[in-house]
Amino acid sequence: MANKTWFITGTSTGFGRSLATYLVQQGNTNVVATARHTDQLGYLDKYDHGQILKQTLDVTNQQEIKQAVEAATSKFGTIDVLVNNAGLGYFATFEESDLDDAKYMFDVNVWGLVDMTRAVLPTMRKHHSGVIVNFSSIGGLYSFPTLAFYHGTKYAVEGISESLAKEVKDLGIKVMLIEPSGFRTDWAGRSSKKVMPKIDDYKQFGEMIESNAKGAHHEAGDPDKAAQIIYDQVTNHADELPLRLPLGKFSSDTAIAKYKQDLENFEKLHDLSSSADQQ
Ligand SMILES: NC(=O)c1ccc[n+]([C@@H]2O[C@H](COP(=O)([O-])OP(=O)(O)OC[C@H]3O[C@@H](n4cnc5c(N)ncnc54)[C@H](OP(=O)(O)O)[C@@H]3O)[C@@H](O)[C@H]2O)c1
Repeated sequence: MANKTWFITGTSTGFGRSLATYLVQQGNTNVVATARHTDQLGYLDKYDHGQILKQTLDVTNQQEIKQAVEAATSKFGTIDVLVNNAGLGYFATFEESDLDDAKYMFDVNVWGLVDMTRAVLPTMRKHHSGVIVNFSSIGGLYSFPTLAFYHGTKYAVEGISESLAKEVKDLGIKVMLIEPSGFRTDWAGRSSKKVMPKIDDYKQFGEMIESNAKGAHHEAGDPDKAAQIIYDQVTNHADELPLRLPLGKFSSDTAIAKYKQDLENFEKLHDLSSSADQQ
């Protein structure tokens, strides 16, 4: 069987690093490991026997996206699996958020993912085959205070991915959303700016922001286990790949509770909702 080529964004730390480390140890896999600074990818060197391509890639940089996709296809022929993993967080109340920071997070979490996907889709369509793995979050389904704009990015990823999945399903291309709860990566620490509330009315949320920061690297989720699950789903369960894959017990519990609650509300409102149709 021909090797499958995986292309991953943001492999310096966290999920991206765990996934790259796991994949390079699988016999049938080429890995395009991308990062803003490839000198952070030395951890891969001991596994390298020609199946690894390291590539500089900031997902907000169109030129680097183009170059990375070209380098990947010229070395390995195609990209079978694109993992849009790179992402940031931002903790602040809605009113006290710096909108430049929030917009930059959209540039990375949403537009970076969009640009990457559009750069890879022509190759996948040509080969009538491919899997796009988009990192969302339980925060793409359910919202907490102090994360309004982060949720905004992940809900956007959910909507875009769900629509895309319907457009490409007959072209041999699948889309899977990864929805983790807290995992031991750099996300809650260095990858998320925190703005403590200054407005008295919001002071109570300061504790929530602090406890998230303190909890960084102590979360329940193990990114190495996530890497194994993602590889196994894409490799051994491609025919029944879920559109949404919550990862972590908290994520699964929260998703189930949220959908149950929504279902109850929609059913209760059904007659009222329907009554808005034509006179
Ligand atoms: N950990 C969690 O609890 C959790 C839960 C739900 C969802 N997620 C999602 O999981 C994904 C991966 O995050 P993580 O948890 O693994 O956190 P992480 O350890 O902080 O990793 C984030 C990665 O994104 C990269 N990145 C940031 N901005 C970038 C840009 N402009 N271009 C390219 N790469 C960029 C970082 O690179 P640098 O080293 O250059 O900064 C790093 O490699 C994110 O989409 C995050 O939202 C995480």
